[in-house]
Amino acid sequence: MARFALMAAAVVLTFLAAAPMIEVEAKKWTVGDTKFWNPNINYTIWAQDKHFYLDDWLFFVYERNQYNVIEVNETNYRSCNSENPIANWSRGAGRDLVHLNVTRHYYLISGSGGGCYGGMKLAVLVENPPPPPDASPSKNSARRVFAISGLAHQFVIPVAVLAAIGTMWDALLRFW
Ligand SMILES: *[C@@H]1O[C@H](CO)[C@@H](O)[C@H](O)[C@H]1NC(C)=O
Ligand SMILES: *[C@@H]1O[C@H](CO)[C@@H](O)[C@H](O)[C@H]1NC(C)=O
Ligand SMILES: *[C@@H]1O[C@H](CO)[C@@H](O)[C@H](O)[C@H]1NC(C)=O
Ligand SMILES: *[C@@H]1O[C@H](CO)[C@@H](O)[C@H](O)[C@H]1NC(C)=O
Repeated sequence: MARFALMAAAVVLTFLAAAPMIEVEAKKWTVGDTKFWNPNINYTIWAQDKHFYLDDWLFFVYERNQYNVIEVNETNYRSCNSENPIANWSRGAGRDLVHLNVTRHYYLISGSGGGCYGGMKLAVLVENPPPPPDASPSKNSARRVFAISGLAHQFVIPVAVLAAIGTMWDALLRFW
């Protein structure tokens, strides 16, 4: 049963390792959508109907010679002051990604060209992703049982079959 059972186990482990990738994907938000990062857009309105979850990304697209993306604290966000930045997210190409890797408020402004005074300021609250929809506690345990039996069909039975084939194959090889 040696090598084929091992192979079967390897196949199953590969599937199991791939399984967590089914989780909710991180989202990449293009700030301002098709209007991008520009003056005369109200980014409070842009953000107000959205939920930003941990590990999402903000994508800033803008005129690199005029604007930038500077992270500041709330006070400096309100007053459009970029003199004491928390972070400079600008990389120089006018295409910047901000990885929202902490659950907290992020305050981002354009500190140059008067962009912030023209409305280029964005505040987002990063939250933990919600549990899957309609996951009430009672349904949850049923779901788990179902998941395990599903697992049995998907993995355990193929393993048994592969192991049996492996055993027969090894027996065959012994005759050669
Ligand atoms: C942007 O919209 C928000 C929410 O409607 C409002 O409170 C705020 O005053 C607006 N900002 C500007 C600069 O108009
Ligand atoms: C933000 O930083 C400024 C210094 O640049 C400081 O005076 C202010 O208290 C800070 N505000 C907050 C909310 O931390
Ligand atoms: C932010 O970093 C970029 C790239 O390193 C640099 O070109 C730019 O001058 C910086 N901006 C500020 C305000 O520090
Ligand atoms: C989040 O990202 C920032 C900037 O890339 C990094 O300095 C920081 O260590 C990260 N924090 C966590 C908790 O991953």
